[in-house]
Amino acid sequence: MSVVLEAQGVEEYRSGKAVLRGVSIRLHSGRVAALLGPTGAGKTTLFDVLVGERRPQRGVVRLMGEDVTKLPMWRRARLGVGTIPQGPTVLPDMDVDGNLTTFERLGGGERKGSLYWARMVGLEQRLGVRAGHLSGGERRLLEIARSMVTRPRVLICDEPFSGIDPAGAMRIAQMLRGLALEGVAVLLSDHHASIALRISDEVGLLLDGEVHFWGSASDWIKEPLVRERYLGGSMDG
Ligand SMILES: Nc1ncnc2c1ncn2[C@@H]1O[C@H](COP(=O)(O)OP(=O)(O)O)[C@@H](O)[C@H]1O
Ligand SMILES: [Mg+2]
Repeated sequence: MSVVLEAQGVEEYRSGKAVLRGVSIRLHSGRVAALLGPTGAGKTTLFDVLVGERRPQRGVVRLMGEDVTKLPMWRRARLGVGTIPQGPTVLPDMDVDGNLTTFERLGGGERKGSLYWARMVGLEQRLGVRAGHLSGGERRLLEIARSMVTRPRVLICDEPFSGIDPAGAMRIAQMLRGLALEGVAVLLSDHHASIALRISDEVGLLLDGEVHFWGSASDWIKEPLVRERYLGGSMDG
């Protein structure tokens, strides 16, 4: 399996406090990885470093073996780093069709037409609906379609299931698995471990800015630190 995106020894500070303390991870083509950890562990900060939203104090980010640590977000996007950030990023007053057409125009790749992208995520019946009127799950699907327009090699999804009902979350999960089948390297974070564990080939545990475990979902769940520091008494963290 080829490494698509790699972070090595990443250190980052916020307001003088160490938030990432030497984080190294590798994302592989065709695999879904989940990085789980309590709120404040540093997941979003790490994702920002990976996509180029933040430049870390120390450490290296490599895309297909090339050092991209100093490249801004838009240049990494062109090289194949796709992202679904935590907050909503659709154009709420524009309909689904308009959103997809706009994304495609900005994406600069091959034009497939809005129907193609809508079908890809199962929104073909919703083309005329204003994005602001979509359900949370549908909005995420639109965001996934948008990120696909640029044909990313790696897709970084920060809490893709947050605020979404179980059925919607399953659809998004299947969508992400489908992208991995096509060779995309997928990284996600989430508050709800159960769905992330189900769709991920590998799972990491981030605690206080350090990766304490990385392995299969079945090994992750047996890891004592997971229970002690993340899940507590509950299964869903
Ligand atoms: N805007 C900010 N200013 C200063 N510190 C921040 C800011 N946002 C987050 N932090 C700090 O960075 C740490 C990691 O935050 P974050 O990466 O958002 O974690 P996670 O996504 O795992 O919840 C938090 O503990 C918090 O103290
Ligand atoms: Mg976060």
